[in-house]
Order: sequence, then structure tokens, then C-alpha cells
Amino acid sequence: MMRFIVTCLVIALSVYVAYHGLEYDHGFIRLTKRSPGNRTGVKAPEKSPFDDNDNLISLYMEDSDQSSYSLHYDFYQDSCPTAERIITKGIRELYAAKPSVAPSLIRLLFHDCFIEGCDASVLLDADESLTSEKEASPNQSLKGFDVIESIKSELEKVCPGVVSCADVLVLAAREAVLMAGGPFYPLETGRRDSVVAFKEIAERELPSPQASISVILARFGTRGFNERETVSLFGAHSIGITHCTFFEDRLYNFSGTGKPDPELDTGFQQELKTKCPYSASAPSPGTGVGPSMPASDYGGVSSAGGNDGVVDLSYNNEGGEENFGTRYYRRLMQKKGLMYADQQLTGREETEMWVRAYASDTQLFRRDFAMSMMKLSNYHVLTGPLGQVRTTCSKVLPKI
Ligand code: HEM
Repeated sequence: MMRFIVTCLVIALSVYVAYHGLEYDHGFIRLTKRSPGNRTGVKAPEKSPFDDNDNLISLYMEDSDQSSYSLHYDFYQDSCPTAERIITKGIRELYAAKPSVAPSLIRLLFHDCFIEGCDASVLLDADESLTSEKEASPNQSLKGFDVIESIKSELEKVCPGVVSCADVLVLAAREAVLMAGGPFYPLETGRRDSVVAFKEIAERELPSPQASISVILARFGTRGFNERETVSLFGAHSIGITHCTFFEDRLYNFSGTGKPDPELDTGFQQELKTKCPYSASAPSPGTGVGPSMPASDYGGVSSAGGNDGVVDLSYNNEGGEENFGTRYYRRLMQKKGLMYADQQLTGREETEMWVRAYASDTQLFRRDFAMSMMKLSNYHVLTGPLGQVRTTCSKVLPKI
């Protein structure tokens, strides 16, 4: 009973903070039970939290008499009370020294959760019995593994074998969003770490930068994300960097035409050409990428190959409420999306309407992004007896 009351207080406080962060004042809150996509038999709800009403925020709340196999607010309250503080402090310090850790961690979270759920499988190194997800082509340009590992080692000093790498990753990414000027969102904890990795699935399922809107919606849809949620998640592309190799086909040889993508603003195209000069290894049809090609993988494109120049996704305006998200959607409206996949969001009415909405309403975007990140962070998690709590995030615990 006491635990239930404390849980309710924590949620009320979290919602209050979230609201204030979002300055959203005309909605109301409904608390529903259970976390979506828990791998201990709790199925994700068919409905999105957005389906009922635009003015409704549905938060997934753990039922007090549910089994201990579900996520909880403050799961480490007794076993490691300082866990969340250690993670928050670690990220703040690292961000102060190197702001690029924020986008790296947000992308790392996406690549982990999108493939078989938020189970830290993306963090595992290869060994004799395991092929690493890190080797999948979409993952070869991921960064931030060292950040998670260093925070995990701090935690191991205080509470050995208690806090999962999956929880470290979702909490670190939440702090990264906040540091980069994004909204706060409450998160439950109690995830466990996988003992396997999913290289082939990552290769197949992570959409390529050349993915069409149909592919994007299908991949996100399979995981329970509707158009609105999908478009809101792309707001993360307002921070960080992208390598030229991921969009230079749009500058020099779109779809094998030998010409730029007509959907790319001409002035912006010139600007990008100075940052990403033509390279003979630019992706083109025939190398397996380009919109006419199956967008099922990165076609071998990674930061290691092709043009290794980079473009700042935030256009040197990192941080701040306006810049996080809103600027990205405004640029899409001006045909200034960097990747083909980005610009595809304006390619269909069901997604374009959200691009337009987020371009003009920063608070709406912040609320939606917060909700979608919560949903992503809870996707298909391992709890209870499933998985394990690794002591080093890159290694499965040896069998005893
Ligand atoms: C169709 C979906 C998506 C595709 C094809 C895609 C692809 C990419 C690519 C190719 C990069 C550049 C990586 C590099 O050059 O090193 C990138 C960067 C990034 N992506 Fe995505 N992405 C998608 C969705 C998402 C989502 C849903 C999120 C988060 C919720 C996300 C977060 C980021 C962030 C933060 C960066 C910057 C990374 C950094 O600076 O280290 N992306 N993405």
C-alpha cells in the first residue's frame, strides 16, 4: 500500500515537471495500467496513447498489485537508491565536456530499442558465441558505447550487479534529450539485459537513410508507432551530425539520373555541395542504395566508407527549445531535409500534417516527442526472470 502511495506521488511529480517543461495547459491526464511491450507476457496495447483525444496524455502506470515482473517507477529505490542520480550526474558532466554525447546516446537508444526492444543488445561485443549487433551496417556509425560503459562502471562500484545496462541506456538518453534542449519525460525502470544480439534483424529492419515513406511507416508501424509518433521521433534529427555519405546521392546522382534530387531546395543543395564535395565513392544505384533500390539496409554505407565529411544537423544552433525539433520541421517544409528519409515525411498527407503542426507549435512537438520517447524506451523490454543484469555492458555474464 505504502509503495503504491509513493509510486503515485512520484508519478504526480513527474507529470507536473513534464507539464511545466512542456507548458501544456489545456489537456488532462489519464493514468492507465501496464507498460507497453513488456516481454514477460504483457502485450502492447493496440491503441496509441494519442488515439483518444488530442488533449489527452495517457501515461502507462504500473499497477500496484501487478507482479514484480513489470517496470516500476524508482525500481532501484531500495537496491541502489543513488542509481538515477549517478547516471544523471555522469551525463551532465560528460555533456559539459563534450555536447556531442547527447545526440550519440539518443541515436544509440533508438537503435537498441527498435531491434527486439530496449534490452541493451546493441551494446554487446562479438565473442565466440555471439555476433555483435554493432557490426550491422546501420550500427557502424553509432557512438556513445564508452559513455554507457563508464557510467555503468561507476554504478558497479556502488551497487554491483544491480542496475541493468538497458536501464542505464534509457536514463542516459533521457538526460541527453534534456541537455540538448528537449523535454523531460518520466521513465519506469527494471529492464533487464539480453543474453543475445540481433545482427541480422538490425541489418534488415533499421530503415536506411534512403528509405521511402512506405518503408518508414511500415517499420515503425510494426512496432506500434503511428504516423504522429513516428514523425515526432524524427525531431531528434535536429541535433548531432550526419556524414555526407548518407545523403550525397541527393546532391550528385539521385536515383541514377546523374542529377540532384528535385525535392532538395536549390540554394541548400549548393550549400551542401561545399560541405560534401563530390566523391567517386558516392552512393549510387548499383551500390545498393538510392530510392529506387530496396531500402532494407544501408547498402554497406557506413561512416567508414564513402564521403566522410559531416554536416551539423542543428546547423550550428544546438540546444534551446526552438532549436530542438521545431527547426528541423521548418526546414523540411522548405525542402531542406538532409536525408531522403527525412524529406519523405512531407511526402504523404498523414505525415506532412504533423510536420506542419510541429513546425508551427513547439509545445505540441515537445509533448509528443516526450510521449514517443517514453513509448520507445518501454518497447518490448525484458523484465522479471528474463535476461540478466550484466556487469560490463559489452559482455554477457558467464554461465556459472
Ligand atoms: C527512418 C528512420 C531513421 C533513419 C534512416 C536514420 C538515419 C540516421 C543517419 C544515417 C544518421 C547519421 C549518422 C552519422 O552520420 O554518423 C542519423 C543520425 C541521428 N539520428 Fe537517425 N535515423 C532515423 C530515425 C531516428 C530516430 C527515430 C531517432 C531518435 C529518436 C534518431 C536519432 C538520431 C540522432 C540523434 C542522430 C545524430 C547522431 C550523432 O550526432 O551522433 N534517428 N540518423
